[in-house]
Amino acid sequence: MSALPHSAASRHFDVIVIGGGAAGMMCAARAGQRGRSVLIIDHATKLAEKIRISGGGRCNFTNLDVGIANYLSRNPQFCRSALSRYTPGHFIELVRRHGIAWHEREHGQLFCDDSAQDIIDMLRAECGDGHVSWAMPCKLEGIERSDGDAARFVLATSHGQFSCQSLVVATGGLAIPKIGASPLGYKIAEQFGLAVVAPKPALVPLTLPPEELAIYKELAGMAFDAIAECGAGHFRENLLFTHRGLSGPVILQVSSYWQARDYGGDDGSSQITINLFPAQDVRQWLAEHARSKALLGNLLAERLPRRFAHAWCDARNWNRPTNQFNGKELDAIATALAGWRISPDGTLGYAKAEVTLGGVDTRALSSKTMEAREVPGLFFIGEVMDVTGHLGGYNFQWAWASGHAAGLAA
Ligand code: FDA
Repeated sequence: MSALPHSAASRHFDVIVIGGGAAGMMCAARAGQRGRSVLIIDHATKLAEKIRISGGGRCNFTNLDVGIANYLSRNPQFCRSALSRYTPGHFIELVRRHGIAWHEREHGQLFCDDSAQDIIDMLRAECGDGHVSWAMPCKLEGIERSDGDAARFVLATSHGQFSCQSLVVATGGLAIPKIGASPLGYKIAEQFGLAVVAPKPALVPLTLPPEELAIYKELAGMAFDAIAECGAGHFRENLLFTHRGLSGPVILQVSSYWQARDYGGDDGSSQITINLFPAQDVRQWLAEHARSKALLGNLLAERLPRRFAHAWCDARNWNRPTNQFNGKELDAIATALAGWRISPDGTLGYAKAEVTLGGVDTRALSSKTMEAREVPGLFFIGEVMDVTGHLGGYNFQWAWASGHAAGLAA
């Protein structure tokens, strides 16, 4: 890392990026490589911890199939421009140039073969190519606007005072506070008159109310394939039972829609619908077994984990021999199996969330440059904005794309 220059005269930078995570480093590297003098300020002692722990330590750095349908935002079209100008192909090319080995997993997810550290080292090297300076760990104490054209912002920090023409806020979301997440970005937005869509934990395990938990908590650790739906969210992946409720990729995915149920366009439903027979027409299957003498729980155990099948039937008083149900009852059973309705009573919060839903309202930002329309020189990138990706490499792709867009403009 380039050492920070110490003379008072050199404490001016063309660009200061607050937050040296995924989006911040991408932006700083791009701006630096354009010949802009760039400083990254970060309060953490270790660089880019979120990248390091991502993807189980192998960083799911992008996805082969990225589009606006993979993102939630109050302003759903906003991310289209940046995503189309910096695609997964661009990032894959960067990864190749740095000699990082990677592999594809299901659903088009790309991971490092070795370690997420490879991505951190690559971004740090890209910043090095752009002669980016670092102040880290460094605490931001305040920001003031200045009248000068070159020095529009003056920053007071634990490393002294800095000024810059462009200020890029890349402080991320609130997930995992113990590794440095903070609300600083939202506070800066509010200081400059930008609205913030109320942040909520997303891609997060859900908790069940006590009466439901009493039925299912004994199943903690059990997982099986299911489809979960809430509002516009529809996913097929594994469902996992936990001591507090439900998790697994299908629940993490749909949790973002459950949390976004007050966003316009959704039905506002507090329920999640789970199809326990994702691969089969359950009505037909039940009809084929209508004469079976097996207890319904035992019959369902041919397709579902036995303990779950019995708990689910017992909770409904349905654990009788299958041939004792009449046609109407079998129809109700099929409907319930294809649309098991659960009403979570909360989430496990930011400590267990992967991302933050909401953030700086993008309606005040340029979708081309990420600059605040009413505050020339002020940019927001990455997760601090109200753009939240699905699980599967989409959040990093947004960090790269928005960082790239701002890096070309700041
Ligand atoms: P990021 O969080 O990366 O960086 C923000 C930076 O700002 C940090 O360096 C922080 O220290 C700094 N900062 C914060 N407050 C500050 C303050 N007050 N002063 C100074 N600096 C401050 N996504 C994905 O696509 N694929 C994946 O595999 C995963 N896996 C994953 C696992 C886990 C456990 C989590 C928690 C998250 C993921 N994600 C993910 C999400 C992904 O990590 C996240 O969306 C990006 O890191 C966001 O990039 P940003 O640069 O916006 O924020």
